[in-house]
This record gives sequence, C-alpha cells and structure tokens, in this order.
Amino acid sequence: MNKKNNIFIAGSVEAAAKAAADFWLQCATVAIHTRGAFHVAFSGGSTPKYLHHYLLTDEYREKIDWSRVHVYFGDERMVARDHPDSNYRMVRETLLDHVAIPAAQIYPIVDDDLLIYDEPPKSVQALAGNYAQTLEEALPHDRDGRIRFDLIMLGMGADGHTASLFPGTSILNEDKRTVAEVYVEKLQAWRVSLTFPVLEQAHQRLLLVCGEDKADVLAKVFTHADEENYPVKRFAAMPGTRWFLDQAAAGKLGES
Ligand code: 6PG
Repeated sequence: MNKKNNIFIAGSVEAAAKAAADFWLQCATVAIHTRGAFHVAFSGGSTPKYLHHYLLTDEYREKIDWSRVHVYFGDERMVARDHPDSNYRMVRETLLDHVAIPAAQIYPIVDDDLLIYDEPPKSVQALAGNYAQTLEEALPHDRDGRIRFDLIMLGMGADGHTASLFPGTSILNEDKRTVAEVYVEKLQAWRVSLTFPVLEQAHQRLLLVCGEDKADVLAKVFTHADEENYPVKRFAAMPGTRWFLDQAAAGKLGES
C-alpha cells in the first residue's frame, strides 16, 4: 500500500477494499463515540461489494455497534427494491441482511408504491422530494442547520461520474436541493441522487475506485480535468476525502 496525499494505492481490489474497510471502521468508531450514532450513505455499482465483504469478517464486524448505524443511499436507479439493478438490493444482499441494523434505521430511496413507470418525471420528483424530507428528519444538522452525514461512500464511473452526478447533466449545478432527480441521456434512464452540497457537507467521504477501465479518467481527475466533464473532480483534493485505488486504476497517475 502506498499513500500520496489522500490517495491510497493497493496492489489489488481486495487490498484496496480492505484499506477502505479500515477507514469505514475508523469513521464508525469516531462517530458513535463522539456523536452517539453513525450516519452513512452507501454507494451503488459493483466495487462496493468487496468492501462489504470485509465488513462482514470478524475482524471488522465484531468491532462495530450495528445498532447505532443508520443507512442511506447516495443514489438509486428507478427500479423496484428487489430489481437486480437496485443499489438498495445490492447493499442489502451483500451486507444489511447479515448484520443487526434496526430496520427503522435503513432508508432506501425507492418506495415501490411511488414508482409509476409511465409517469417518470412525476414519480422520480416525488421520490427525490420524499428522500430529501427523510434526510431532514433522520440526519443530524450542523450549527447552520444543514444536514450532515458522518460518511459518504462513493465510486467513480469510467466517464468520471460519481453517485448519479453524470457529466453535462443539470444536477451538477443544483445548489439548493439536497436530493434531486436527473435524466441521464446516455443511459436513457432517470436516477435520483444526493447533490454536491450534501456530499461536500459530510464529515468524511470515501471513494473506492478499482479497475483498469478507470485509469485514463483518474489520471485526468488528479491533473487538468474540469468538473463539468468529470464531476468526481470536485473531490480530488477536498479535505475529509480518502481515495482507495487498486494498482490497475492508479496505473496512469502522474502520466496525464
Ligand atoms: C451507481 C453508482 C455509481 C457507481 C459507479 C461505479 O448507481 O451506479 O452509484 O456512481 O459508483 O458507476 O460503479 P462500479 O463500482 O460498478 O464501477
């Protein structure tokens, strides 16, 4: 494992995920010790499964007071909770089903009853509005009255998106709403996502990014990339942000 600034580079995706699990445990321990609870937003995609695997090993699992963990989601696809593409389902199957977090402390974005497929804008707006309300009611607030996560877990797509903050989309400029809907042209799909202000306000951000297909963009993100085209750039050097990369993803750092 070598470390440069806030970037941890490991020899494999497993080693990167294990280092990320160490940071997750550290954030949980500090939050529960100093604030009585751990409010964490989970990321979607496939890479988080590796981190969830480690959290379920005795080395980590035994050290976490799961009764004090509150679970949220950074973004979601507009599918039912049991759909194979659901981020909620992925996190449930790879972690939540195996630990004792009270059901009342788990906050999925999608409410299946509100998911009306033939009226997408209306139903996604309703889901985004509902989730913003849920966050207001469930999360701690800082002294300026703003909601504040203890940790937000994020990934990065090979196009430089993070959560569902995709290049060139309207949601990038959202500076009032905490949760918003966005139509992603290239996916021909709607998404609901936390917005930049909420991601920035969190105590800590963890980015776990692995795989050779991410190397070109990562090299740009840590040099001359602009946020409009590479939204994850916002977190490249942001204090309170840790990047966990495998060697394959970090392969071109310093080249661009
Ligand atoms: C989603 C995610 C998204 C994800 C990246 C990376 O809903 O898809 O929240 O932002 O983190 O697409 O995904 P992989 O881990 O699968 O590469």
